[in-house]
Amino acid sequence: MKLLVTGGAGYVGSVVTAQLLEAGHEVVVLDDLSTGHADAVPAGARLVQGTLREKAAGVLAEGGFDAVLHFAAKSLVGESVQKPWLYWDGNLGESLALLDAMRAAGTSRIVFSSTAATYGEPEETPIVETAPTRPTNPYGMSKLAIDTALAEYARLFGIGAVSLRYFNVAGARLVEGGAQGERHAVETHLIPNVLKVALGEKESVSVFGEDYPTPDGTCLRDYIHVVDLGVAHLLALDACAPSTHQIFNLGSGSGYSVREVIDMCREVTGHAIPAEVGPRRPGDPAILVASSEKIRTALGWKPERDLRAMVTDAWTFVQGR
Ligand code: UFG
Repeated sequence: MKLLVTGGAGYVGSVVTAQLLEAGHEVVVLDDLSTGHADAVPAGARLVQGTLREKAAGVLAEGGFDAVLHFAAKSLVGESVQKPWLYWDGNLGESLALLDAMRAAGTSRIVFSSTAATYGEPEETPIVETAPTRPTNPYGMSKLAIDTALAEYARLFGIGAVSLRYFNVAGARLVEGGAQGERHAVETHLIPNVLKVALGEKESVSVFGEDYPTPDGTCLRDYIHVVDLGVAHLLALDACAPSTHQIFNLGSGSGYSVREVIDMCREVTGHAIPAEVGPRRPGDPAILVASSEKIRTALGWKPERDLRAMVTDAWTFVQGR
């Protein structure tokens, strides 16, 4: 297939681009490089630099595109609370421009990177796709609005759309002659921050609260290896059906606590990794675990790589940089 990958210079987008190329697809990456890196785009993909508004219509007008995989987004929860306009415009506005470009060009399939943040504070765990969507920040709200737009474009214009709701993504894709992993200028995620301590770039890691109603008092999250996550995108691409919008959670059905993650990092790196308990981070739910039943049943997807593999691969990746 000929595919447009938006955000293909970012962490997840670059991994999936590599997997799509490996599967024999032709890939054009569209990325404004605001947070992504040109050198993360795998060799074999063509990079077009620009925003979706600036470039999506022109690229798709070349013709022959079978589908779009849409990763490009702003994704910092804290920033979204401080500067919500960046999320409404940067996520929703840009995505609507992409959808209109698809409609004009007759591109009829899309796989979209949605998020657990669309659910907000869960009432029940594990979270199923029919759970109420009550996002607690503009990031989650903007992604939910895009999910809604996809459902409308499916109903009104016949596109086939799949939204994949990511929980916690970790790890790296390591191959001979090139690797893709997490390289954020502003790093908020747990595992890369813990590994910075092991690398000697930080003195200690902060544990954001240990008074949660969980077994060890720290938050539980559902971690998925980025390579497993990528595999789900290839399955979703084949599952896009005309006039249909499908939503799948991408999780494992079980969680690890912040302390368990730090312990795994200590084991894998052999470093002591001092940890200091600080206050809770505003907006963090105690437990975020996905039910993975729906995608398992419908697409036959299940995660293959455990937390040790995620930390090991992330550690190899950051040491190589
Ligand atoms: N944490 C720490 N110390 C750190 C960083 C994180 O204790 O230095 C804790 C957080 O409080 C949280 C857990 O580690 O309990 C995981 O935090 P991350 O920032 O790695 O991930 P989140 O679960 O907050 O975020 C993920 C996605 C977001 C998405 C969100 C849904 O990365 O994109 O889930 O709520 F919005």
